[in-house]
Amino acid sequence: MHAIIAKTQLSPNVTRLDVCAPRIAEIRQAGQFVIVRRGEGAERIPLTIADSDPVAGTIALVIQAVGKSTRELVALEPGQAIQDIAGPLGHPTEVIRQGHALCIGGGVGTAVAHPIAQALSRGGVQVTSIIGGRSKEWVIFETELRQLGAVVVCTDDGSYGRKGFVTQAAAELLAAGGIGIVYAVGPVPMMRAVAALTRPAGVRTIVSLNPLMVDGTGMCGGCRVNVGGKVFFACVDGPEFDGHAVDFDLLADRQTTYREFEQTANSCGADGCRVGLNHR
Ligand code: NAD
Ligand code: FES
Repeated sequence: MHAIIAKTQLSPNVTRLDVCAPRIAEIRQAGQFVIVRRGEGAERIPLTIADSDPVAGTIALVIQAVGKSTRELVALEPGQAIQDIAGPLGHPTEVIRQGHALCIGGGVGTAVAHPIAQALSRGGVQVTSIIGGRSKEWVIFETELRQLGAVVVCTDDGSYGRKGFVTQAAAELLAAGGIGIVYAVGPVPMMRAVAALTRPAGVRTIVSLNPLMVDGTGMCGGCRVNVGGKVFFACVDGPEFDGHAVDFDLLADRQTTYREFEQTANSCGADGCRVGLNHR
């Protein structure tokens, strides 16, 4: 059992749980994730490790409550526990060792961009982050990222920071030159737009993909993605890939495949209902 040590509401539907998992806290690297199961018979949910404290033996999980299982997970309170946490899973982030990196986080994807920026900064790389949310209350991890380098905040409605999508700020920064690599995490249209911006300039771009995951071991095929014309499984081959080679059309298409099942699970509410499917 993994005790919940702290719970923080980051935005209207995004919650941070700091959870006891000493072995994972010690060995996890940027870009890796875990699969959690709240209790017996519950759905397996893949979640990025947004941060860790090896001394306290805790990891930070950031959860967007979008379906039945994630709502149940964020309903847990400090003192309660998560039954299973498997990980760390996936390949660690490809961390450059010098130069200037741009980390772009869209909405809840900012929680995934945070450990990447952390690893880059700790390795001596200059980090600039661009983070975005629908409005001020949806902007997360700003304070943490400001400790690692410059941060540009964007909101769709202009209620905080710059008005507009993260891609508008990114276009200006890229045009100014000096950026050696871009890491982008967020909604698929955002990652696709970032890749389209950096491709003509030949700036290497890493995106973190979050297709549907079931087993997290490369066995079920649920997290299949197409990169450079080849099939990969995001759970074991990713979750980070070359953004210039990702088939974003297929990714967007597969994300909508089980929407009907999700709606059924959302409206069902019965204990043990297993038609809810996993999203990071
Ligand atoms: P959102 O829809 O509120 O968008 C967040 C920000 O992304 C916006 O403020 C904007 O700056 C940018 N953005 C959105 N659409 C864009 C577009 N078409 N072009 C350019 N920029 C755009 O995001 P949210 O609801 O917080 O995030 C949810 C999405 O993030 C889900 O689709 C989820 O699957 C995905 N997600 C991805 C990962 C990952 O590892 N890739 C992890 C967690 C969540
Ligand atoms: Fe089953 Fe990746 S989650 S193959």
